Amino acid sequence: MSSTFGEKIKISVFGESHGEGIGVVIDGLPAGETIDREQVLAQMARRAPGKDKTATPRQETDFPRVLSGMLDDTLTGAPLCAVIENTNTRSGDYSGLMNCPRPAHADYTAYIKYHAANDVRGGGHFSGRLTAPLVFAGAVCRQLLEKKGVRIAAHIDRIGRVYDNRFYPTEVDPRLMERLSASSFALIDGGVEEAMRAEVEDARRNLDSIGGAVECAVTGLPAGVGDPMFDGLEGVIAKAVFGVPAVKGVEFGAGFALSKMKGSQANDAFRYNREGRIVTETNNCGGILGGISDGMPLIFRAAIKPTPSIARLQRTVDLKEGVNTELEIKGRHDPCIVPRAVPVIEAVTALALSQFI
Ligand SMILES: Cc1cc2nc3c(=O)[nH]c(=O)nc-3n(C[C@H](O)[C@H](O)[C@H](O)COP(=O)(O)O)c2cc1C
Repeated sequence: MSSTFGEKIKISVFGESHGEGIGVVIDGLPAGETIDREQVLAQMARRAPGKDKTATPRQETDFPRVLSGMLDDTLTGAPLCAVIENTNTRSGDYSGLMNCPRPAHADYTAYIKYHAANDVRGGGHFSGRLTAPLVFAGAVCRQLLEKKGVRIAAHIDRIGRVYDNRFYPTEVDPRLMERLSASSFALIDGGVEEAMRAEVEDARRNLDSIGGAVECAVTGLPAGVGDPMFDGLEGVIAKAVFGVPAVKGVEFGAGFALSKMKGSQANDAFRYNREGRIVTETNNCGGILGGISDGMPLIFRAAIKPTPSIARLQRTVDLKEGVNTELEIKGRHDPCIVPRAVPVIEAVTALALSQFI
């Protein structure tokens, strides 16, 4: 299994949902920098389940025990290792899945790749729970980026058919970013919250789940950060974002809509602003040209699929008996992953940008 990411700052995520614990080892962090633990915990709390009706009622404390790499809140330069114990597991809910893979989950592909030796309980290493160590690592990297003036914030762009407003592409208000980064149901326009929650409730009542999208903005990136071709900002960010379970699409700037425009509409005109800094009048390219930042806000969206585990009866196969069968999934699952994916997307964005800055 390859659950490592990065070269300059390298993270390795370990654990399974219903094993002893999960965690992360982070290599390459700068010695001597201080980390605000409360801030790290605040980010982890945004992701943890059991706080919101859209999420699973499963309560997890998600408390990270730091085993190495930090002394009195200062990074020592040694690998930073954090472990989160698994305390709230009901493995019995998963006994039926051993031979009958859940449609759209990784049960089947893991069964094939790991010759049925994988731990399927709670989704094993493919569980959304593995995003807790990602948020820990991202929260540490994010603090280092903030010291360099780089800010990251995301919000729920859409749940089902209900949209939030989008970030203003050429200028993102720092107060808005601060508010979103502290919210567990992050919206630019709080007025759509009720309609979004109704979408989720509707799905739950119908024993179903619902997907959506997350929009993320990065400000404070100077022009000139990144690389051409494969190691460009888009490639590295997309790789990190696709590491988040349930992400099935990423688009930068105007994304797929850009492909429907004429060049005269799509091109972001360069201008000198009042301070003599080069800016663009529009930001259809999402702040990236040729894999390199152009100094405008970096903006992208990630598509999040509906939660695979739904309460409805579904068709699947029995791998042991070699027959078609039906599956009724038990256990506690988010009817909608999107709100909890927001801090995770912010975290992996911090991990991606830490490779460059
Ligand atoms: C925060 C978070 C929570 C998740 N919770 C669940 C869940 O409760 N039930 C479920 O079936 N999938 C859940 N998932 C999604 C699965 O882990 C994911 O769909 C699965 O690993 C297959 O990977 P893929 O969708 O990227 O192909 C969650 C994902 C995230 C990011």
